[in-house]
Amino acid sequence: MDGFLNLPDIERAAHEALPPMVGDYYRGGAMDEATLRANRDAFARAALRPRVLVDVSRRDLSTTVLGRRTAMPILLAPTAFHRLAHPDGELATARAARAAGVVQILSTLSTTPVEDVCRANPGGTWFQLYVYRDREATRALVGRAADAGCAALVVTVDAPLLGRRERDIRGGFHLPSGIVAANVTGAPRDMPRVAGDSALAAWFQSQIDPSLSWKDLSALRAMTSLPILLKGVLRGDDARRAADAGVDGIIVSNHGGRQMDGAVASLDALPEVVAAAGTATVLFDGGVRRGADVLRALALGARGVLVGRPQLHGLAVGGEAGVARVLEILRFELDHAMALCGCPDIASITRDLVR
Ligand SMILES: Cc1cc2nc3c(=O)[nH]c(=O)nc-3n(C[C@H](O)[C@H](O)[C@H](O)COP(=O)(O)O)c2cc1C
Repeated sequence: MDGFLNLPDIERAAHEALPPMVGDYYRGGAMDEATLRANRDAFARAALRPRVLVDVSRRDLSTTVLGRRTAMPILLAPTAFHRLAHPDGELATARAARAAGVVQILSTLSTTPVEDVCRANPGGTWFQLYVYRDREATRALVGRAADAGCAALVVTVDAPLLGRRERDIRGGFHLPSGIVAANVTGAPRDMPRVAGDSALAAWFQSQIDPSLSWKDLSALRAMTSLPILLKGVLRGDDARRAADAGVDGIIVSNHGGRQMDGAVASLDALPEVVAAAGTATVLFDGGVRRGADVLRALALGARGVLVGRPQLHGLAVGGEAGVARVLEILRFELDHAMALCGCPDIASITRDLVR
């Protein structure tokens, strides 16, 4: 894995290795993919203002997120179907996360049961929830995730229905036989080809509840004592409402450009959400590909960042070792950026570092 110098190297190799249907599913955004591009462009616009003459001979990348120590302010974003990238699937991801000392957020649409993933990364797994139309099935899933040992619940709120991902519609995205959504009960777990549509979009339409609204938050709160984070918030007023409703965290995200095309770049939405979030923990995702991107998001007020696609690219090129390499590169680059910006620790990454 040492031959891969940076995340773009790994991304290129992954797309050479992956079947086109899977590559398109990973790479794609909604419709014109404008938001997908905007996520990256926003980082390019956020120029850094390095500090000089700071003793950076010793650097500490560790921090806490929701009260738990993490080796660096990076988490693995919930991403569906890891076994499409590698036969070891989410277990490989979990082992790499554990070795790197970071949290993995497991998708509802994981291809490995949540119990097995928690065993591979004890204390380091959070569970991402899509709320089913069937609220009893939702309650059962939340209970199962908590019993398995997940340390937090991430409720994705930007997907009342699936974004229109035209690559997946054209390519007939589906799950090959033998790969299933392993946490799903009371609904189909396989997603065979659907004529003229993405099988995931069709499954989503039939199973996921588009009526989910603010008034459901108290029911979710009553389902579990785990900390709850809302993923997919892009507005200050929504952040304020979430904080007032007592959520523990907010994840600023546009789902990697896969839901509402034309939505604001995540980085551009971050300051507004931070200003409105009160004491809720603010995390961030969308387009993080370099250590300096992590530093920018932290400077703009995020407590930590999630990476989505890069973990899938890592899986595709080398399973556990590939994900480990992705995390190692990000760690190296964040450390490097901190040194060159005059930041010996995470607390010294402050707002003034970004113009
Ligand atoms: C292939 C793929 C699958 C995803 N699956 C989920 C999912 O199951 N649940 C969810 O909340 N977000 C999902 N996401 C969104 C990610 O959690 C995250 O918001 C996004 O990937 C961040 O952008 P990045 O890929 O540029 O890092 C998925 C993203 C990708 C690329």
